[in-house]
Amino acid sequence: MRRVLVTGVTGFAGSHLVDYMLERGDCEIFGILRWRSRTENIEHFTDRVTLVECDLRDATSTHDTLAKVKPDWIFHLAAQSFVPTSWIAPTESLTTNVLAQVHIFEAVRRLGLPCRIQLACSSEEYGMVFPNEVPIKETNPLRPLSPYAVSKVAQDLLGYQYWMSWKVDSVRTRGFNHEGPRRGPVFVASDFAKQIADIEKGRKPPVLSVGNLDAKRDFTDVRDMVRAYWLALEQCEPGEVYNICSGRAWVIRDVLDVLLGLSKTKIEVKQDPARLRPSDVPILLGDNTKFVKATGWQPTIPFEQTLKDMLEYWRAR
Ligand code: GDD
Repeated sequence: MRRVLVTGVTGFAGSHLVDYMLERGDCEIFGILRWRSRTENIEHFTDRVTLVECDLRDATSTHDTLAKVKPDWIFHLAAQSFVPTSWIAPTESLTTNVLAQVHIFEAVRRLGLPCRIQLACSSEEYGMVFPNEVPIKETNPLRPLSPYAVSKVAQDLLGYQYWMSWKVDSVRTRGFNHEGPRRGPVFVASDFAKQIADIEKGRKPPVLSVGNLDAKRDFTDVRDMVRAYWLALEQCEPGEVYNICSGRAWVIRDVLDVLLGLSKTKIEVKQDPARLRPSDVPILLGDNTKFVKATGWQPTIPFEQTLKDMLEYWRAR
């Protein structure tokens, strides 16, 4: 049985990845959590995985955890992942995201662990993308527009550097936006779906707050995304970088319209200036050719279905 360690196991993608691996049934799963981590996303599988207390911002804690678990594969999903928070607390986003990764690499290197590491890098790294550059290939220049995006560029390039310098084996997945049930309520589709569910229940006046509706994003269902992460470690080249995306861009306004169309309640839409960003990435539309060629992966869940599932998720809570 392959020993697989998931950082960020209590989070959105981490919990879906564990669901996927449990269904496969061909690995022994370990997950890292901190003493104050919320466990609502993982209650349904805590009896089937080994949870280890570890703080990735602490080098000793990370080293000791890896020495104990001795994973064959690591999915490194733990991060400060909400872009606006990185303007409010840039140091925290940068240190959490970059140090955690360095601590993992150093522990793997010093322990001489023969393990593969998937790095959850991000399409946000591309940042300012010009109209003649879409769909975006892995070779596009990186022009990050937030401290979060800079932290992901650092994680990404550290992956390359540790492979070149030390042959620490990692695959860099540049995931474009992914959504689905359990998505944190601050991210756009989940935020809108939760507001609609709250309005339907009379918990909030029928006014839905929004930010920049003109932005364009390439959405994939999280269940397709975690399958891609698995394939990345199973089939991709060490030290390489791959876009994971659907190849279709949605205007955020259209995401909102689909969600509103799923509700019978009359809802007014109002822009909240506090939701506008100092610099918003105008368009992220990816080219997944390199990853599809390497793995044969294709997204299977239409985004309309993802949105439906998200609204049902919030209605049920
Ligand atoms: N969150 C939010 N709330 N976003 C809004 C809103 C709103 O009310 N209204 C419009 N938006 C716009 C944002 O300005 C942005 O252009 C887009 O919706 C998506 O915002 P988020 O869902 O917050 O995601 P993100 O694109 O900033 O980042 C996500 O995707 C990255 C991959 O591209 C995160 O999951 C990152 O961690 C991930 O790396």
